[in-house]
Amino acid sequence: MSKRTQDKVVIITGGAQGIGFGCAELLIREGAKIVIADVNAAKGEAAAAALRAQGGEAAFCQTDVLKEADCANLATFAYQHYGQLHGLINNVGFYGRASIEETTPELWDKYLNLNLRSAFFCCKFAIPYMQKSGSGSIINIGSIHGIQPASNLVAYGVAKGGLLSLTRSLAGTYARDRIRANYIIPGWVLSDTEVALHESLGLPEDKLRAIGPTLPLGRHQTPQDTGHTAVFLISDESAQITGMTFHIDAGATTLPLK
Ligand SMILES: NC(=O)c1ccc[n+]([C@@H]2O[C@H](COP(=O)([O-])OP(=O)(O)OC[C@H]3O[C@@H](n4cnc5c(N)ncnc54)[C@H](O)[C@@H]3O)[C@@H](O)[C@H]2O)c1
Repeated sequence: MSKRTQDKVVIITGGAQGIGFGCAELLIREGAKIVIADVNAAKGEAAAAALRAQGGEAAFCQTDVLKEADCANLATFAYQHYGQLHGLINNVGFYGRASIEETTPELWDKYLNLNLRSAFFCCKFAIPYMQKSGSGSIINIGSIHGIQPASNLVAYGVAKGGLLSLTRSLAGTYARDRIRANYIIPGWVLSDTEVALHESLGLPEDKLRAIGPTLPLGRHQTPQDTGHTAVFLISDESAQITGMTFHIDAGATTLPLK
């Protein structure tokens, strides 16, 4: 029996670790062929090797999503390597804290370019190959702060809000090419970067992990929680779903802000 994402060729930016790698693991299990795109060559190569060791097909393409030429090269690499391209997960992002007062023009550009312009570049170059392949599914990894502002995540929130707008624009524009675009809001995932960020803000890892049982469904979310939704959205099970937002946050947004 065919697996849920059998032979779907999928690019995952920032796929070397964290949420991106969690998506890759579940997609590989369901038969997808993965291109890990990451600026970190050592981690990216290791991630692709780990996926191959699980019996799947995975390749690494060193990519700095801040550079337009790298994003163009990435899409061409994926298409030439596998002969098709069906999926793109725009996952790269960084969520360092900064209020309005703390946000310099340089910081603003850095957050907007990393979290938003990167996805625009990757979509621009991946879509022509999806058109050649007959269909496509774009997943933009967003944030609750794309729809619900936080005063210490200003540029990040603006970038993720822009990413939601880009998602809906893509959905409307490319539906007739059978290219869909959806937006996932992961919950609170203790990736290496998230743990390091909290350490730098004075919250040690053990105290951070102790918060899990107090959350609405009793734990932090995992990269795999997002990965399950990615499998659904890359698969043909979601063939009629586009322009939508998926919350993987254990109901956090149904509760009043503390
Ligand atoms: N961790 C969370 O709690 C959380 C919650 C909501 C949304 N998100 C979003 O999920 C996504 C992934 O978060 P994470 O915590 O797994 O991230 P992470 O920091 O663990 O992983 C990010 C990956 O991106 C790569 N990367 C960084 N800059 C790059 C560049 N210029 N070009 C290519 N690759 C680059 C890194 O090497 C790394 O492998 C982000 O978009 C983030 O905003 C995370």
